[in-house]
Amino acid sequence: MALIPEAFIDELLQRVDIVDVVGARLALKRAGKEYQALCPFHDERTPSFAVVPQKQFFHCFGCGAHGSAIKFLMDYEGMAFPDAVEQLAAQLGMKVPRDAGGRAGDDDRLGPIYAVMAEATAYFRQELGGSARAREYFERREVGPEMIERYGLGYSPDRWDGLVGKLGRSPDRINLLAAAGLLSTREGGQPYDKFRDRVMFPIHDRRGRPIAFGGRILDQGEPKYLNSPETSLFHKGRELYGLWQARQSAQKLKKLILVEGYMDVIALAQHGIEEVVATLGTATTKEHAELAFRNADDVVFCFDGDRAGKQAAWRALESTLPRLRDGRQAHFVFLPDGEDPDSLVRKRGALGFREILNEALPLSDYFFTTLINDIDISSIDGRARLAARAQPLIEQMPDGAFRDLMREALAERTGARRVVPKAAAPAPARQVRPQVQRTLVRGALALLLARPQLALEIEVPAGLAWVDKPGADILRELLERIRQRPGVAPVDLIEAYAGTPTHAALLKLSLADLAGDEDGWRDDLASALERLAQEGQSQSNRRRDELSAKWRSGGLSDAEKQELQQLFRRE
Ligand code: UTP
Ligand code: MN
Repeated sequence: MALIPEAFIDELLQRVDIVDVVGARLALKRAGKEYQALCPFHDERTPSFAVVPQKQFFHCFGCGAHGSAIKFLMDYEGMAFPDAVEQLAAQLGMKVPRDAGGRAGDDDRLGPIYAVMAEATAYFRQELGGSARAREYFERREVGPEMIERYGLGYSPDRWDGLVGKLGRSPDRINLLAAAGLLSTREGGQPYDKFRDRVMFPIHDRRGRPIAFGGRILDQGEPKYLNSPETSLFHKGRELYGLWQARQSAQKLKKLILVEGYMDVIALAQHGIEEVVATLGTATTKEHAELAFRNADDVVFCFDGDRAGKQAAWRALESTLPRLRDGRQAHFVFLPDGEDPDSLVRKRGALGFREILNEALPLSDYFFTTLINDIDISSIDGRARLAARAQPLIEQMPDGAFRDLMREALAERTGARRVVPKAAAPAPARQVRPQVQRTLVRGALALLLARPQLALEIEVPAGLAWVDKPGADILRELLERIRQRPGVAPVDLIEAYAGTPTHAALLKLSLADLAGDEDGWRDDLASALERLAQEGQSQSNRRRDELSAKWRSGGLSDAEKQELQQLFRRE
């Protein structure tokens, strides 16, 4: 894949305003030179998420989330890097250039795995064409050709070496198939096809690329559904089956129906109910809930009416509460005994199914009915138990009108005037700004991180090369990096150190308030570097004198001789 040139990213980050990008998605409140919001990346009640326009980054003092406007789009919208860049560029009327060379990114590493997943999907589709038995299976379940097309359905033949034989002709290819989660291995033996004699349901990511499969046994057998393992492309707690297709069906979804099974999704779509997704054989996670709500403001959870279904629904409710910002709604539907959405929509048709959806319980009703069902609230004791169970759940909701309503509803049912006194849970104090002990090196680093381009406006004194102090090498590295990438954004300077101990230190420095006012920053940096250089010079002079003396008495090691020569060369 063609890479986006770094210079373009730099320019983009200079032109975009992170306040617009974040402000379009979160309610920002101005606080001095920055903006604050409730952090969208963890649950909190008092804002510890800051957007700093001057430095064009966001930072959460609670969970440590941090980055540029691009990073924000990636994390918040679940976008891949190139997509986030495209979107911002489009907003600014810029066109993204592509170059072929450059740094190897994620796409280079993952590209071959995506490719082999696409090949496998094509292979399974072809095998479906070749298997009358598999085609009859779909016919029997009333899955038509449009649905086979829309969901990319296929069939894995009853062989140990179907896929391996077709796609895995070399050790490299076998490795790729293994990385894609498509193989099983006997102990000490040959790898073989993981999916055999199953109808295949590809799971697509948000860009429509297959990243995993679910495979259902045709007749009898265990397990009924076999899913891909977690791979570098696939994390089942974060994906919803059918989301890609649901998003294709409408500009903006108003409602999203969440069901339990692959076949339920397909049967509903077959009947024209296209805004439907499923979790992948797991309980509904908070990530699932967030993902669903990002695509529609109203999410309808649809569960079997049996015990297992009720349990699954309660889990879904627990995952949903922390995501229920104002404007979002959750509803719950329980199907009649023994039915699932697939069987029901086939019996009653789309209209019949929509009728059932219309009777869905709002989350608050489901919440209180369920709690009150197990508790006798006619006694004081019972009401206290209700409060004890409901309160911690309600407190997980984000700050807002809906949470207030839930608190009031609880107060009404428990007979308490006010169940949650305003000051009940003292807000955790917002963490104070990191205090950074000033040294010349740290001061210079902080200035560079605030405005890298300062480095281009000053002379870097030669003596800086000899400074031997903590952080001096990083200071030199940053100066060099900025020279090579004149437009580099502060966050990118910091992110270059991701995964190293330096990262945290730079992050801390970049968050510290800078002394003095902006107009003086350039002179501050110049004089800090100048003083460092002088110190470096005298440090190196001292060392040179010391080594020279030692040399005259004939006691220099080879390493010391080399060092001395270098010190002389610097003159
Ligand atoms: P069900 O067993 O209720 O399957 O599991 P279903 O959807 O009604 O299947 P059909 O109609 O017999 O084909 C519901 C969902 O749970 C997941 C699958 O997503 C399935 O669609 N599941 C179930 C698994 O992942 N593994 C299993 O072994 C069973
Ligand atoms: Mn079913």
